[in-house]
Amino acid sequence: MRGTRHPISSRRAAVGVVAAAAAVATLVAPAPAAADGGVVGGHTAQVADAPWVVALSSRDRFGRTRAGQFCGGVVIAPAKVATAAHCLREDVLGVAPDRLEDLKVIAGRSSLLGPGGYEVPVSAIWINPAYDPDSNSGDVAVLTLAQRLPDGYTIPVARAGDAAYTPGTAATVYGWGDTTGQGTYASRLHAAEVSVLPDESCARAYPAGKGPARYRADTMLCAGTDQGGRDACQGDSGGPLVAHGRLIGLVSWGSGCGRADSPGVYTRASTLLPPS
Ligand code: ARG
Repeated sequence: MRGTRHPISSRRAAVGVVAAAAAVATLVAPAPAAADGGVVGGHTAQVADAPWVVALSSRDRFGRTRAGQFCGGVVIAPAKVATAAHCLREDVLGVAPDRLEDLKVIAGRSSLLGPGGYEVPVSAIWINPAYDPDSNSGDVAVLTLAQRLPDGYTIPVARAGDAAYTPGTAATVYGWGDTTGQGTYASRLHAAEVSVLPDESCARAYPAGKGPARYRADTMLCAGTDQGGRDACQGDSGGPLVAHGRLIGLVSWGSGCGRADSPGVYTRASTLLPPS
């Protein structure tokens, strides 16, 4: 299942691997939901308004309570879902991704407790060969769906240089992850409004040799608020950060959740595209 060809183009993914500091906090297996939202400091959202947001599911590995949700993802073509490479790590899944037989993408379903939408099996997994688990650089994977989703589920990916990456741009992050930073996994989709931050602030927040990893402007993007409080959190990984109606980031890592001095770090979405 797992191949090394780029699913979107033949371009080799960004190289340059720097082993910085300790490994990023690992994904925690979602516990039964106690709150009614995902993402810290956000609000509930409807997939009808954000049809490209999907949940990655394995009931075998993560239980049935929340439909097996363990990460987020985003539909970038009718049969292609982008997510974080770290979501598919063997130490997260407990099994190699190509042996995860019940891996599915859940689309069109706001509440993980309800029916509706689509559960689509995954037929192939591409993990960015330049993904570096130590620095978390290049944290992106693309799943090929066994069936195409209907029209209207896809979001365009912002190219490098798109105005949506400009610092100060209002962006929204979506997910079914932890709402408190303490393992309160959501059952309903949640969203929070954050701002794209300048690379210099991100680099200051995450310098080399300190914290979970070093910020790298070529492969990452960071977003947050001055006061903190609004952020992605565990279980949101792989989910979308959207600005100007385009995908600009995938939830990747951070130090805690919603801390004023520790913005959320995202995989820069333009790394999914061939260079223009
Ligand atoms: N690594 C986390 C996950 O696997 C995402 C953490 C994002 N953290 C943040 N503060 N934005 O779900």
